[in-house]
Amino acid sequence: MTVHFIGAGPGAPDLLTLRARDLIAACPVCLYAGSLIPEAVLAHCPPDARIVNTAPMSLDQIIDEIAAAHAEGKDVARLHSGDLSVWSAMGEQLRRLRALGIPYDVTPGVPSFAAAAAALGAELTLPGVVQSVVLTRTSGRATAMPAGETLENFARTGAVLAIHLSVHVLDRVVAELVPHYGADCPVAVVWRASWPDQRIVRATLGTLETAVGAEMERTALILVGRSIGAEDFDESRLYAQDYDRRYRPRGTDPRFPETATDPEGKA
Ligand SMILES: C[S@@+](CC[C@H](N)C(=O)[O-])C[C@H]1O[C@@H](n2cnc3c(N)ncnc32)[C@H](O)[C@@H]1O
Repeated sequence: MTVHFIGAGPGAPDLLTLRARDLIAACPVCLYAGSLIPEAVLAHCPPDARIVNTAPMSLDQIIDEIAAAHAEGKDVARLHSGDLSVWSAMGEQLRRLRALGIPYDVTPGVPSFAAAAAALGAELTLPGVVQSVVLTRTSGRATAMPAGETLENFARTGAVLAIHLSVHVLDRVVAELVPHYGADCPVAVVWRASWPDQRIVRATLGTLETAVGAEMERTALILVGRSIGAEDFDESRLYAQDYDRRYRPRGTDPRFPETATDPEGKA
């Protein structure tokens, strides 16, 4: 018996990995975080699966469900939205399972920041403009931010900020970021990225609060930074005609001679 922790992606049922889909289809028990995972994803469960929405449950109750499945020798698909490496509450469940000796594995998923960038048709790391993306959030009722992890501190770097769990505090976000990025800095808010009713708002830090309607609450990602919508950026050196690289040696003394790295000589 294994508990399969599965990143269920941003919402669209076809934005699961093949491994995720197959595991969900093979597990007789499915626990899912109902606040963010749409019913359509559950269509991959077997028809007679025990499907439990964990949104109203405590950690103890969730572990009790898993322990009951373990006692019956039934595999569990444990679904969380996006990818499991950020804000999934997976860590505390894994710690309990380790203590109980219940086996588990982890299958990554498409994170919401990637789905939001895809919805915008945007590369966030444009050469000569921005080369880093910070995945962050503001403090919430349930989770305080560690002292150094303020928006202001991240903003000092000029990186693109992918701000989660914060569309309800736009005033705070704007107030903390304007001094660093300027009021004209581009922003995009993607609400329910990949869902059928996905919405996108493009604005600047100065116009953000009026541009985002009250209906765009909860499941929204705020992307802030100079690469959002930028057209004025460098082309990457990697594909430059004269750039000497492993798969396309250039010049009289190439850094990666073809014979050394490419046995078939096709580089
Ligand atoms: C508890 S966190 C989960 C993050 C998730 N593990 C991930 O990889 O993106 C929930 C936050 O993620 C963002 N989010 C999750 N799904 C989203 C989606 N489909 N569209 C936009 N934002 C989303 C929102 O900021 C939401 O408040």
